Amino acid sequence: MAMEKIWFGGDYNPDQWDEKTVLEDMRLFKKAHINLVTLPVFSWAKLEPREGEYDFGWLDKLMDLFAQNGLGVNLATPTVAQPAWMSAKYPEVLPVDIAGRRRNHGMRVMFCYNSPVYRERAAAIAGALAKRYAGHPALKLWHVANEYGTYCYCPICRSKFILWLKNRYGTLEKLNERWYTSFWGRTLTDWEEINLPSELNDDYRFNPTIQLDYMRFVTDSTADCFTNEYDAIRRFSDKPIQTNMSGYIKKLDQFVMAARMDVVGWDNYPSPLHDKSLVALKHDIMRGLKGGQSFLLAEQSPNQQNWQPYNRLKRPGEVRMLTYQALAHGADSCLFFQLRQSRAGQEKFHGAVVGVSGREDTRVFKEMTQLGAELEKLSPVLPGMRSKADVGMLFDWNNWWALENSSGPNRDIDYLDCVNQYYRAFYEKNIAVDVLSCKSSFEGYRVIVLPMLYMFRGDLKDRLEAYVKGGGTLIATAMSGLVDENDQLPAQDYPAYLRDVLGLRIEETDALLKDRENAIELDGKEYSCRLVCDVVHTEGAKTLGRFTGEFYAGSPAVTLNEYGRGRAYYVASQPEQALLSHLIDGLGLKPVLDYTGEMEITRRENGERIVFFALNHGKSDAEVRLGGGEFTNLLTGERVRGEATVKPNDVGVFTARKED
Ligand code: GLA
Ligand code: ZN
Repeated sequence: MAMEKIWFGGDYNPDQWDEKTVLEDMRLFKKAHINLVTLPVFSWAKLEPREGEYDFGWLDKLMDLFAQNGLGVNLATPTVAQPAWMSAKYPEVLPVDIAGRRRNHGMRVMFCYNSPVYRERAAAIAGALAKRYAGHPALKLWHVANEYGTYCYCPICRSKFILWLKNRYGTLEKLNERWYTSFWGRTLTDWEEINLPSELNDDYRFNPTIQLDYMRFVTDSTADCFTNEYDAIRRFSDKPIQTNMSGYIKKLDQFVMAARMDVVGWDNYPSPLHDKSLVALKHDIMRGLKGGQSFLLAEQSPNQQNWQPYNRLKRPGEVRMLTYQALAHGADSCLFFQLRQSRAGQEKFHGAVVGVSGREDTRVFKEMTQLGAELEKLSPVLPGMRSKADVGMLFDWNNWWALENSSGPNRDIDYLDCVNQYYRAFYEKNIAVDVLSCKSSFEGYRVIVLPMLYMFRGDLKDRLEAYVKGGGTLIATAMSGLVDENDQLPAQDYPAYLRDVLGLRIEETDALLKDRENAIELDGKEYSCRLVCDVVHTEGAKTLGRFTGEFYAGSPAVTLNEYGRGRAYYVASQPEQALLSHLIDGLGLKPVLDYTGEMEITRRENGERIVFFALNHGKSDAEVRLGGGEFTNLLTGERVRGEATVKPNDVGVFTARKED
């Protein structure tokens, strides 16, 4: 379901404005090259003022107005904010929080995703919207709810969880075994004895195995809640359906969510403190969710936010660079929260394309207008293009949960940080990375990286061994290959799932106190390391680097095992970035293109064309070597052969037809 163009626009709340303002917006949007508006995200109370009574008149008028003005609509179901009458009449639609409190009405994303009444009313309004607007010329795309992510602990969720467990484990015996309830005498003798893992029963450290299943269950329930509306829409409309996933992505397994969506959508709100590589990684995760399919940048701010601790303004050109970074990594849209600033409420100080003043001579409006004009030039070429990488990096939500729920060895273990560290080592060399799930095929990848892949599920062990035997290169890190899908250690040497392929065993793992370091000597240089250090015994692997400190000084810290036709590296700690950079230099991988300076370079392509993005993040001019053939810079229209110069804080987008 490729997008017909690069969508440029975003969240719009005309129900907060009078008609005159909305008409003025039509003029401003046209001027800014906006081609898509997302609405009515939060307007359930206005659309269904009384149960079963719909008022679509105002939306009809808007839809027609948008169509007349050449604007497409990303039509939202308003179901993330149920009307007050619904919470009053059916209190069970309100969620119970982890402390056991039934919440009351007031906030958005404050509903129980398992509530039958909620599901019934949500499907009804989603279906009514789809029926009414399926044939409307403005309709381009569907946007279900908004940033799901509630965790509910109500009685309905409890009964559904019990059903979910019956379905997963079949018998209580199996459940007791998989939950390892013999520990601390937690044996269950009846399904009804099962409680949700909340503060009512375990308020310092949840039983990690139960907690893990609850997170899986909440994901499945939320995905079902999405599907409830998806199915209602699909009865009438064939347009792509998605939901915008939150930038804070830990609570829901987004591989599961994305499997239900036609196209992935996500909201990018980088903190000014974050490295560019973290944003790039998040985009690559989003591209990985549907096996490399391009995605929608469903929200970003055209300027500051209101909800960060310090809402720094985006510097001139910064939103443009963030947008090209998204497109470079697989986005087919640039959608903003928000097109016109709200006059009051929580988000009144959030950036917007048009401020409350309504002016068009602002820095932000002018920058967005320039960006809109540029994207029109990329629009005929880019949508649907994919990328290819030699490196695959495994990313797994189940692993994230289990690893960070685990009590010990070190409370500072941070999965995303470790993934980002390895990702950054490739990113800084412009070696493309694909993010893979545990179920993805490894075919075609020269290197597979497992940053802290603590949990091994399904047939992963066999598939990884076959991959390396067949000539692949594996890099695994400390805290990998330890537990099964129920967070259980096999009664074997650590790391049970990687021992053969890595050719080693781990006897024990030391946790370093916060701000303490050890060091690794590798190829004549010393690198610091932190967090954890494994005491490793090689069993066939070659020792490349050794720890220099503590009682295990001299023991293996970086190893290499020849396995079949391939190689498997192990890094037994969390080393400084320079060690990873050095390790990667030995793998013989190539950057997307040769270049000078501080560039971020990616490649997207389809059957006919290639597009290279070259973003200059440095302070001086940089060059990129395009290689043979003639390219066109899509932004300037210039023909380029060989080398091209990119100015600081600027981007080159070069395209060429593929040779037949
Ligand atoms: C989220 C929501 C939007 C808005 C923005 C503000 O992403 O989806 O409705 O609240 O944050 O940054
Ligand atoms: Zn509930």
